[in-house]
Amino acid sequence: MCEEKRFDKCVIFDLDGTLTKSEEGIFNCVRYAAEKMGLTAPQGEALRRFIGPPLMWGFQTQMGLSEEDAKQAVAFYRERYTTVGLLENRVYPGIRRLLRMLKAQGCYVAIATGKPQGPAERIIAHFGLTKYFDRIVGPTDSMGPEKEWLIRKALPETFGEAWMVGDRSFDVEGGHAAGIFSIGVGYGYGTEEELRGSGCDAYCETVQDLIDFLCPGQEAPEGVFLSIEGMDGSGKSTQIALLTDALDKFGFEVVHSREPGGCKVAEAIRRVLLDVNNVGMTDVTEALLYAASRAQHVREVIRPVVKSGKVLLCDRYVDSSVAYQGGGRQLGVQKILDINASAVDGTWPMTTVYLDIDRETSLKRRAAASVLDRIEMEKDDFHARTEAAYRELIARDPQRFVVVDATRTPGEIGDDIARQVLGRIMEAEK
Ligand code: TYD
Repeated sequence: MCEEKRFDKCVIFDLDGTLTKSEEGIFNCVRYAAEKMGLTAPQGEALRRFIGPPLMWGFQTQMGLSEEDAKQAVAFYRERYTTVGLLENRVYPGIRRLLRMLKAQGCYVAIATGKPQGPAERIIAHFGLTKYFDRIVGPTDSMGPEKEWLIRKALPETFGEAWMVGDRSFDVEGGHAAGIFSIGVGYGYGTEEELRGSGCDAYCETVQDLIDFLCPGQEAPEGVFLSIEGMDGSGKSTQIALLTDALDKFGFEVVHSREPGGCKVAEAIRRVLLDVNNVGMTDVTEALLYAASRAQHVREVIRPVVKSGKVLLCDRYVDSSVAYQGGGRQLGVQKILDINASAVDGTWPMTTVYLDIDRETSLKRRAAASVLDRIEMEKDDFHARTEAAYRELIARDPQRFVVVDATRTPGEIGDDIARQVLGRIMEAEK
């Protein structure tokens, strides 16, 4: 169907080093093959030289193997690569934003990679990116790995302007041989010297430069606002780090923030709120100060980040006020929501992760903490009411919350959160 339509603008991407960073999988598979052969794995530069050229070359020159042994090493390498290695991969931060922007332009977007077609399709599907590509072309049994032919096959029948984007000289040269323009990217495995030397029509050092070049003046698509909540000691910091890594792997650009705080004015309010010397603070004052810090944070940080197409991951948000001031301080759930209405003015997270731990565990972890703030020092019944208010919020808005059992190991909790949050974000991208 694509062939019949004329596309004014086409962008063909190389995969490794341009859309994804595959070194982790490559390195692990070389190490695996070496171990299977009873040999010491190469390190540093010798290991890095495996990225790009044929594997036979790598095993023969970097590990000094005979042809026969190198063949065996390649077989071991493939054994691991086809199952786990190919997914030990990361999408470069910003690539998702670029792909969404190209699609918004009505651009034809394809991949021409030296990686066999099947694994290339699996990698793209794993990252939920298939929807952004009109075609994915890699070598098959019937087609060799010459870049020019892969690019020709990736292009539609009729088109106006077309660009090949790649990180190595053979991408640039392949684009030219196929009769289209070539852009060299400096964040992959090639060098600026190599790319300029091969005559690229444009050189982009970063993904942002590529976005500016291919989508000049275009507004970014809406990003995502996520928050994470839980009782004190529920392990939020660890889970924020793990979720950030999972999102980053998928090419989402994560910006962290926290409440109370997140910007200068709000951080100043935070110091007042958590200062153990402020014993005389009334409950209403406390609730209003949290809301005041939030009003600043929403406008100065949350909205601009989301507007720029990134993911804002916030450590606590309105739910904390409802739980701690509404429940813990007994001001009431509705009253806190009313106080916060003008502060947030309709800005709510798309998804809120709630780390669910029982009160005993929370108590134990708080007791183990060396320094407690004004809120953490509260008595146990305060925390019991806080937890009850969280439960009420979850019952009121079950769609927004991802509730996870936070008594498991950090790795198990992290995998659970990543799976659910990524699923929701990618669904919303459609
Ligand atoms: P913080 O150091 O961020 O603690 P944690 O790492 O446990 O999140 O301190 C925030 C404290 O402020 C925490 O005890 C919860 C409380 N809090 C409220 O009472 N209301 C709110 O609206 C927010 C955002 C936090």
